[in-house]
Amino acid sequence: MSKLWGGRFTKQTNHLVEEYTASIHFDKALAEEDIQGSLAHVTMLGKCGIVPAEDVETIKAGLNKVLSKIQAGEVQFSVSDEDIHMNIEKHLIEEVGAVGGKLHTGRSRNDQVATDMHLYLRKRVVELIGLLHALQESLITQAKSNMDTIVPGYTHLQRAQPILFPHHLMAYVSMFERDIDRLKDSYKRINVLPLGAGALAGTTFPIDRHFVAEQLGFDAVYENSLDAVSDRDFIVEFLSGASLIMTHLSRLSEELVLWSSTEFNFVELDDAFCTGSSIMPQKKNPDVAELVRGKTGRVYGNLIGLLTVLKSLPLAYNKDMQEDKEGMFDTVATLEGALQLFAPMIATMKVNTGRMREAVNKDFSNATDIADFLVGKGLPFRQAHEVIGKTVLYCIQEGKYLLDLTLDEFQNFSPLFDDTIYQVLQPETVVNARNVYGGTATVQVEQAIERAGGKLQHT
Ligand code: ARG
Repeated sequence: MSKLWGGRFTKQTNHLVEEYTASIHFDKALAEEDIQGSLAHVTMLGKCGIVPAEDVETIKAGLNKVLSKIQAGEVQFSVSDEDIHMNIEKHLIEEVGAVGGKLHTGRSRNDQVATDMHLYLRKRVVELIGLLHALQESLITQAKSNMDTIVPGYTHLQRAQPILFPHHLMAYVSMFERDIDRLKDSYKRINVLPLGAGALAGTTFPIDRHFVAEQLGFDAVYENSLDAVSDRDFIVEFLSGASLIMTHLSRLSEELVLWSSTEFNFVELDDAFCTGSSIMPQKKNPDVAELVRGKTGRVYGNLIGLLTVLKSLPLAYNKDMQEDKEGMFDTVATLEGALQLFAPMIATMKVNTGRMREAVNKDFSNATDIADFLVGKGLPFRQAHEVIGKTVLYCIQEGKYLLDLTLDEFQNFSPLFDDTIYQVLQPETVVNARNVYGGTATVQVEQAIERAGGKLQHT
């Protein structure tokens, strides 16, 4: 069969041009959405009296047949039919005869492809939200089972103040919560119907766009036909939300890589989530975390790639826009792959509470608390800071930690010290002293876990 648009042409398309301009290699991923959109479109054509009822039934049956053949892997797509839209239309016509040619009445591939993309992304965003929830759940479960674990909190990767390990995990739960909110917000712009915009200006047929929107579950239709076919903002928004998700996963990955090193030895990742070395028999590498960290780059690349494609494009459709697909598919696959692995990897991670405690005991991360102690005795904070700075310096010179000092030694630095200082300096006291909303005190972390768990149940 010749090309669906062959009428105006006197020559065959150069085969390299065919290859170069075709998108079927990748947009075949839109087959189900394309047929879903066509079914709604042709139903509307029947309802509006544009195509006779019996033709509508024939076309619908044909589309369903093509769909089940595609799902069974029985359809051969062809590069000479360029993209998924024309491949499906060709197969429909083969299936039901010339009447299949009525499907494209009042429609263009421009509003058709945009509709497919909206349908596709709508589905994926819902799936991704589910995967983010599963990851939050495994972080919360780890948090709940480690409520006695105290770890150094870091700034500049230097030990700063001790915190509950669950407090650290719950920070990621909050980060992923914002990611979920962002995806939910972008859903408002994804769930809008472009179909009915035609090639760019609308159509001469008396179609009913709102009826199509209702059938497909869209909340609204695009206001302006040019905007409907030119808009890819919703994909940019998705890619930017995805980039932040990858940023968060990459930061968590980096911490897992560090924590599972011999130097830190804070956690051990399950054997099932690590790989070995082909030469060094002792190695157990955190490959998944490293790859997620690495794959963050391609997701950023996809975002910048699409922004660059769209920059300066005149309205309305331009073939450049066919470049919106591979980056989006790749991003969806990259996110799904990472999230599917992360939830069980976190759930099976062993937490080395003893080693974390040792790290807390062998540092000065309780120094702020003695400064606060002196402030409680009436010393201005800046002076207290100076006194404790000197005390720490003394400890370093003597090879001691703060809890090793005698009361006499403490009092050499300030007469305000008394023996209650030893209780103040205990890691538990230090942690629980930060009893502010959002702080690391046990009661606060328990409440944070409860709030996060409640949110998960309401989604
Ligand atoms: N394969 C095309 C794309 O993905 C479909 C739209 C083509 N429209 C056109 N007027 N050539 O963008």
